[in-house]
Amino acid sequence: MSELTPPPARLLRFSHAVLAIAAIHQLIGSEWMAKPWRFDGASALQITLFEMHEWAGLAAAAALLVLIVSLFWRYPDATFARFLPWLHTAGRKALAGEVAQLARTLRPPSAQQTAVLAATVQGLGLLTLLFLAGTGTAMWLLEDDLELMHQIGSLHEYGALPLKVYLFGHVGMALIHTWRGEGLLRKMFSPSNG
Ligand code: HEM
Ligand code: HEM
Repeated sequence: MSELTPPPARLLRFSHAVLAIAAIHQLIGSEWMAKPWRFDGASALQITLFEMHEWAGLAAAAALLVLIVSLFWRYPDATFARFLPWLHTAGRKALAGEVAQLARTLRPPSAQQTAVLAATVQGLGLLTLLFLAGTGTAMWLLEDDLELMHQIGSLHEYGALPLKVYLFGHVGMALIHTWRGEGLLRKMFSPSNG
Protein backbone atom coordinates (compact mmCIF):
# COMPACT_ATOMS: atom_id res chain seq x y z
CA MET A 1 0.00 0.00 0.00
CA SER A 2 2.77 2.51 0.82
CA GLU A 3 4.45 2.09 -2.60
CA LEU A 4 1.65 4.18 -4.03
CA THR A 5 1.67 6.87 -1.30
CA PRO A 6 3.85 9.99 -1.57
CA PRO A 7 6.54 10.66 1.09
CA PRO A 8 5.16 12.29 4.26
CA ALA A 9 4.72 16.05 3.82
CA ARG A 10 6.76 18.55 5.84
CA LEU A 11 3.83 19.45 8.15
CA LEU A 12 3.23 15.78 8.92
CA ARG A 13 6.91 15.16 9.68
CA PHE A 14 7.16 18.32 11.80
CA SER A 15 4.03 17.63 13.89
CA HIS A 16 5.08 13.98 14.31
CA ALA A 17 8.54 15.05 15.56
CA VAL A 18 7.09 17.59 18.03
CA LEU A 19 4.63 14.98 19.30
CA ALA A 20 7.32 12.30 19.59
CA ILE A 21 9.60 14.56 21.68
CA ALA A 22 6.71 15.89 23.80
CA ALA A 23 5.33 12.39 24.53
CA ILE A 24 8.74 11.15 25.73
CA HIS A 25 9.15 14.34 27.82
CA GLN A 26 5.70 13.78 29.42
CA LEU A 27 6.54 10.21 30.36
CA ILE A 28 9.88 11.10 31.97
CA GLY A 29 8.87 14.36 33.71
CA SER A 30 5.63 12.92 35.16
CA GLU A 31 7.70 10.49 37.28
CA TRP A 32 8.97 13.38 39.46
CA MET A 33 6.58 16.34 39.01
CA ALA A 34 4.30 17.69 41.76
CA LYS A 35 0.52 17.22 41.48
CA PRO A 36 -1.46 20.52 41.73
CA TRP A 37 -3.62 19.06 44.53
CA ARG A 38 -0.43 18.34 46.52
CA PHE A 39 1.66 21.48 45.91
CA ASP A 40 2.08 21.99 49.69
CA GLY A 41 5.36 20.36 50.60
CA ALA A 42 6.49 19.96 46.96
CA SER A 43 9.89 21.38 45.97
CA ALA A 44 10.29 24.27 43.49
CA LEU A 45 11.80 21.79 41.00
CA GLN A 46 8.77 19.49 41.23
CA ILE A 47 6.41 22.43 40.64
CA THR A 48 8.50 23.55 37.65
CA LEU A 49 8.33 20.00 36.29
CA PHE A 50 4.53 20.13 36.54
CA GLU A 51 4.45 23.49 34.71
CA MET A 52 6.65 22.00 31.98
CA HIS A 53 4.29 18.98 31.80
CA GLU A 54 1.33 21.32 31.45
CA TRP A 55 2.81 23.42 28.61
CA ALA A 56 4.44 20.49 26.80
CA GLY A 57 1.10 18.67 27.10
CA LEU A 58 -0.75 21.56 25.44
CA ALA A 59 1.94 21.68 22.70
CA ALA A 60 1.52 17.91 22.23
CA ALA A 61 -2.27 18.34 21.95
CA ALA A 62 -1.79 20.98 19.21
CA ALA A 63 0.80 18.81 17.39
CA LEU A 64 -1.57 15.84 17.59
CA LEU A 65 -4.36 17.82 15.90
CA VAL A 66 -1.98 18.95 13.12
CA LEU A 67 -0.71 15.36 12.71
CA ILE A 68 -4.27 14.01 12.40
CA VAL A 69 -5.22 16.67 9.83
CA SER A 70 -1.99 15.87 7.89
CA LEU A 71 -2.88 12.16 7.94
CA PHE A 72 -6.33 12.92 6.46
CA TRP A 73 -4.48 14.92 3.81
CA ARG A 74 -2.04 12.13 3.06
CA TYR A 75 -4.61 9.33 2.90
CA PRO A 76 -7.72 11.28 1.81
CA ASP A 77 -9.94 8.30 0.94
CA ALA A 78 -8.79 5.80 3.52
CA THR A 79 -7.66 7.42 6.78
CA PHE A 80 -10.06 5.50 9.06
CA ALA A 81 -9.66 2.27 7.05
CA ARG A 82 -5.88 2.56 7.31
CA PHE A 83 -5.48 3.37 11.00
CA LEU A 84 -8.55 1.58 12.41
CA PRO A 85 -8.69 -1.49 10.11
CA TRP A 86 -10.27 -3.64 12.86
CA LEU A 87 -13.49 -1.64 12.40
CA HIS A 88 -14.34 -3.32 9.06
CA THR A 89 -14.28 -6.87 7.70
CA ALA A 90 -11.70 -6.37 4.92
CA GLY A 91 -9.33 -4.69 7.40
CA ARG A 92 -9.70 -7.49 9.97
CA LYS A 93 -8.99 -10.06 7.20
CA ALA A 94 -5.85 -8.19 6.05
CA LEU A 95 -4.67 -7.92 9.66
CA ALA A 96 -5.28 -11.61 10.37
CA GLY A 97 -3.44 -12.50 7.12
CA GLU A 98 -0.36 -10.53 8.17
CA VAL A 99 -0.35 -12.01 11.68
CA ALA A 100 -0.71 -15.56 10.28
CA GLN A 101 2.12 -14.88 7.82
CA LEU A 102 4.27 -13.58 10.71
CA ALA A 103 3.60 -16.72 12.74
CA ARG A 104 4.54 -18.97 9.76
CA THR A 105 7.85 -17.34 8.88
CA LEU A 106 10.87 -17.25 11.14
CA ARG A 107 12.58 -14.36 9.33
CA PRO A 108 11.80 -10.81 10.56
CA PRO A 109 9.40 -9.22 8.02
CA SER A 110 10.04 -6.06 5.99
CA ALA A 111 7.96 -2.95 6.75
CA GLN A 112 6.01 -3.64 3.54
CA GLN A 113 4.95 -7.10 4.78
CA THR A 114 3.52 -5.70 8.04
CA ALA A 115 2.03 -2.43 6.72
CA VAL A 116 -1.50 -3.16 8.04
CA LEU A 117 -0.21 -4.24 11.45
CA ALA A 118 2.02 -1.13 11.72
CA ALA A 119 -0.85 1.22 10.79
CA THR A 120 -3.10 -0.57 13.33
CA VAL A 121 -0.56 0.03 16.08
CA GLN A 122 -0.14 3.67 14.97
CA GLY A 123 -3.94 4.07 15.12
CA LEU A 124 -3.99 2.73 18.70
CA GLY A 125 -1.16 5.16 19.53
CA LEU A 126 -3.18 8.06 18.12
CA LEU A 127 -6.21 7.02 20.23
CA THR A 128 -4.01 6.85 23.36
CA LEU A 129 -2.61 10.31 22.66
CA LEU A 130 -6.11 11.69 21.99
CA PHE A 131 -7.19 10.37 25.39
CA LEU A 132 -4.17 11.88 27.20
CA ALA A 133 -4.39 15.19 25.34
CA GLY A 134 -8.17 15.42 25.93
CA THR A 135 -8.05 14.67 29.67
CA GLY A 136 -4.89 16.82 30.06
CA THR A 137 -6.49 19.82 28.34
CA ALA A 138 -9.64 19.37 30.46
CA MET A 139 -7.45 19.51 33.61
CA TRP A 140 -5.77 22.68 32.36
CA LEU A 141 -9.16 24.31 31.74
CA LEU A 142 -10.41 23.29 35.20
CA GLU A 143 -7.37 24.32 37.22
CA ASP A 144 -9.57 26.44 39.54
CA ASP A 145 -11.52 23.36 40.67
CA LEU A 146 -8.83 21.16 42.25
CA GLU A 147 -11.31 18.45 43.28
CA LEU A 148 -12.59 17.94 39.71
CA MET A 149 -9.06 18.27 38.34
CA HIS A 150 -7.94 15.48 40.68
CA GLN A 151 -10.77 13.24 39.46
CA ILE A 152 -9.84 13.81 35.79
CA GLY A 153 -6.17 13.24 36.77
CA SER A 154 -7.10 9.75 38.01
CA LEU A 155 -8.52 9.03 34.53
CA HIS A 156 -5.56 10.68 32.76
CA GLU A 157 -3.22 8.25 34.58
CA TYR A 158 -4.79 5.29 32.74
CA GLY A 159 -3.14 6.52 29.52
CA ALA A 160 0.41 6.10 30.89
CA LEU A 161 0.75 2.32 30.45
CA PRO A 162 -0.71 2.17 26.90
CA LEU A 163 1.60 5.07 25.95
CA LYS A 164 4.66 3.20 27.27
CA VAL A 165 3.64 -0.03 25.47
CA TYR A 166 2.94 1.90 22.26
CA LEU A 167 6.27 3.76 22.28
CA PHE A 168 8.14 0.55 23.04
CA GLY A 169 6.56 -1.22 20.04
CA HIS A 170 6.48 1.69 17.58
CA VAL A 171 10.01 2.94 18.28
CA GLY A 172 11.34 -0.63 18.56
CA MET A 173 9.98 -1.54 15.10
CA ALA A 174 11.23 1.77 13.64
CA LEU A 175 14.73 0.99 14.94
CA ILE A 176 14.66 -2.61 13.64
CA HIS A 177 13.53 -1.51 10.17
CA THR A 178 16.16 1.24 10.15
CA TRP A 179 18.87 -1.26 11.17
CA ARG A 180 17.70 -3.45 8.26
CA GLY A 181 18.36 -0.50 5.93
CA GLU A 182 14.73 0.42 5.16
CA GLY A 183 15.32 4.09 6.01
CA LEU A 184 12.09 4.70 7.96
CA LEU A 185 13.65 7.03 10.54
CA ARG A 186 15.23 9.17 7.80
CA LYS A 187 11.94 9.24 5.89
CA MET A 188 10.01 10.37 8.98
CA PHE A 189 12.48 12.76 10.66
CA SER A 190 14.51 14.30 7.81
CA PRO A 191 13.86 18.07 7.61
CA SER A 192 14.23 18.10 3.80
CA ASN A 193 12.32 15.19 2.41
CA GLY A 194 9.73 16.68 0.12
C1 HEM B 1 -0.65 14.72 25.16
C2 HEM B 1 -0.43 15.34 26.29
C3 HEM B 1 -0.10 14.67 27.60
C4 HEM B 1 0.53 13.48 27.82
C5 HEM B 1 1.12 12.50 26.79
C6 HEM B 1 0.57 13.30 29.26
C7 HEM B 1 1.13 12.21 29.90
C8 HEM B 1 1.08 11.97 31.26
C9 HEM B 1 1.63 10.82 31.92
C10 HEM B 1 2.35 9.67 31.22
C11 HEM B 1 1.36 10.94 33.25
C12 HEM B 1 1.80 9.99 34.37
C13 HEM B 1 0.68 9.12 34.83
C14 HEM B 1 1.20 8.15 35.88
O1 HEM B 1 2.08 7.34 35.56
O2 HEM B 1 0.77 8.23 37.02
C15 HEM B 1 0.65 12.19 33.44
C16 HEM B 1 0.19 12.66 34.66
C17 HEM B 1 -0.39 13.90 34.84
N1 HEM B 1 -0.62 14.86 33.86
FE1 HEM B 1 -0.34 14.62 31.88
N2 HEM B 1 -0.02 14.38 29.87
C18 HEM B 1 -0.43 15.23 28.88
C19 HEM B 1 -1.06 16.46 29.06
C20 HEM B 1 -1.31 17.06 30.28
C21 HEM B 1 -1.83 18.40 30.45
C22 HEM B 1 -2.15 19.42 29.35
C23 HEM B 1 -1.97 18.59 31.78
C24 HEM B 1 -2.47 19.88 32.38
C25 HEM B 1 -2.87 20.09 33.54
C26 HEM B 1 -1.55 17.36 32.46
C27 HEM B 1 -1.56 17.13 33.83
C28 HEM B 1 -1.20 15.96 34.46
C29 HEM B 1 -1.36 15.71 35.88
C30 HEM B 1 -1.95 16.66 36.93
C31 HEM B 1 -0.87 14.41 36.12
C32 HEM B 1 -0.85 13.64 37.44
C33 HEM B 1 -2.09 12.77 37.45
C34 HEM B 1 -2.26 11.98 38.74
O3 HEM B 1 -1.26 11.54 39.31
O4 HEM B 1 -3.42 11.76 39.17
N3 HEM B 1 -1.15 16.45 31.51
N4 HEM B 1 0.48 12.80 32.22
C1 HEM C 1 3.38 9.04 20.91
C2 HEM C 1 4.01 9.51 19.94
C3 HEM C 1 3.90 9.04 18.50
C4 HEM C 1 2.78 8.91 17.71
C5 HEM C 1 1.31 9.16 18.09
C6 HEM C 1 3.24 8.45 16.40
C7 HEM C 1 2.40 8.20 15.32
C8 HEM C 1 2.83 7.84 14.07
C9 HEM C 1 1.98 7.70 12.91
C10 HEM C 1 0.45 7.94 12.90
C11 HEM C 1 2.75 7.33 11.87
C12 HEM C 1 2.29 7.07 10.42
C13 HEM C 1 2.60 8.27 9.54
C14 HEM C 1 2.16 8.08 8.10
O1 HEM C 1 1.63 7.02 7.73
O2 HEM C 1 2.34 9.03 7.32
C15 HEM C 1 4.11 7.22 12.36
C16 HEM C 1 5.20 6.84 11.60
C17 HEM C 1 6.47 6.72 12.09
N1 HEM C 1 6.92 7.01 13.38
FE1 HEM C 1 5.78 7.64 14.91
N2 HEM C 1 4.61 8.30 16.45
C18 HEM C 1 5.05 8.66 17.71
C19 HEM C 1 6.35 8.65 18.16
C20 HEM C 1 7.44 8.22 17.43
C21 HEM C 1 8.81 8.17 17.93
C22 HEM C 1 9.28 8.58 19.35
C23 HEM C 1 9.58 7.71 16.92
C24 HEM C 1 11.08 7.53 17.03
C25 HEM C 1 11.74 6.60 16.62
C26 HEM C 1 8.71 7.44 15.77
C27 HEM C 1 9.10 6.94 14.52
C28 HEM C 1 8.27 6.77 13.43
C29 HEM C 1 8.73 6.28 12.14
C30 HEM C 1 10.16 5.88 11.77
C31 HEM C 1 7.60 6.24 11.28
C32 HEM C 1 7.51 5.78 9.82
C33 HEM C 1 6.94 4.38 9.83
C34 HEM C 1 6.40 3.92 8.51
O3 HEM C 1 6.49 4.61 7.49
O4 HEM C 1 5.83 2.80 8.51
N3 HEM C 1 7.42 7.77 16.12
N4 HEM C 1 4.12 7.55 13.72
